[in-house]
Amino acid sequence: MSILVTGGAGYIGSHTVVELQNSGYDVVVVDNLSNSNKISLERVSAITGKPVTFYEADILDRDALDAMFEKEQITACIHFAGLKAVGESVAKPWEYYQNNIAGTLVLVDVMRKHNCKNLIFSSSATVYGDPAMIPITEECPKGTCTNPYGWTKSMLEQILSDIQKADPEWNVILLRYFNPIGAHKSGTIGENPNGIPNNLMPYITQVAVGKRPELGVFGNDYDTPDGTGVRDYIHVVDLADGHVKALKKLEENPGLKVYNLGTGTGCSVLDMVKNFEAATGVKVPYVIKERRPGDIATCYADASKAKAELGWEAKYGIREMCEDAWRWQSQNPNGY
Ligand code: NAD
Ligand code: UFG
Repeated sequence: MSILVTGGAGYIGSHTVVELQNSGYDVVVVDNLSNSNKISLERVSAITGKPVTFYEADILDRDALDAMFEKEQITACIHFAGLKAVGESVAKPWEYYQNNIAGTLVLVDVMRKHNCKNLIFSSSATVYGDPAMIPITEECPKGTCTNPYGWTKSMLEQILSDIQKADPEWNVILLRYFNPIGAHKSGTIGENPNGIPNNLMPYITQVAVGKRPELGVFGNDYDTPDGTGVRDYIHVVDLADGHVKALKKLEENPGLKVYNLGTGTGCSVLDMVKNFEAATGVKVPYVIKERRPGDIATCYADASKAKAELGWEAKYGIREMCEDAWRWQSQNPNGY
């Protein structure tokens, strides 16, 4: 009996494999390594002391998935595999819809063929668009996404909800992540972006390690306490633990469920810079730049539903997120 983790060599996937193995689950990973390196899985094994069964395959490859389901006793799937770069998705919408949507349709079809109808899906706070309420509860209406990546998440939520409705044997949990940052305490696995980082924390750590001269702060005229964007940063290990809790929930045959995974606390870009400097003792020079198109002022979760129904809440604060992100970056300045 194994849990299939698609995209398990990636950032959130590798941390989730650690928490799953530490909780006693057998794990099978499928990943095409399009945005990852299988060294991450060797490091996972070194942390947990357990081997990871790995299939290097694309989720669009029906035959490869079919053969894997034939061989392994898979009871549930945590589905991380997908392309996630917001800017790239604007330039390459076809690739994003094909990979994320068509890939998920193939995966789900192979799952049902093998009578495995338990799925946890990586969604995102991006589905709320410019949120109608702060803090954001799961009842907040979904909004207009500003890029194809966001639409793939929003559309996949709809697709998976419709599939569950038509066949109630399915149990589908949609997890809407806020902003995952940080790394495993060991400093051996972490976020490893290709090229210039799009996201705040990897940019900060690359400035701190001397790979980039300064951070650009995208706008200081938002309607927020210091004018910079406010987000709900969540430690990736807390996020990974949320998946273990969601997996336990699947055993209750919950049907369709949606949960926010965030801390419930907002942090501005300048707060993050200050926290990082205080946690690490390393200075992060920055300059104020224009707003980044598509960004919103404020986004943070009401995470009380996950606490009430999954028994999950975030344990780590911003300081640990900064310390752990820095340990990973400073020990692995060039990634894997
Ligand atoms: P990641 O890029 O590190 O991991 C995704 C993994 O999926 C990679 O290892 C990649 O090689 C693999 N992959 C992509 N397409 C594939 C395919 N067709 N077949 C097989 N493998 C494929 O990204 P991450 O940050 O770990 O994100 C994991 C999931 O969480 C993604 O679905 C992402 O959209 C979602 N998410 C991420 C964030 C975030 O800020 N990191 C926020 C919200 C949601
Ligand atoms: N920011 C900067 N400079 C940078 C990078 C980011 O000032 O170099 C600012 C942004 O303007 C924003 C904040 O830092 O105010 C956070 O930006 P990120 O790019 O780190 O994160 P986002 O909130 O824009 O988006 C992230 C993921 C999306 C996901 C969303 C919600 O990239 O995939 O969180 O979960 F959908």
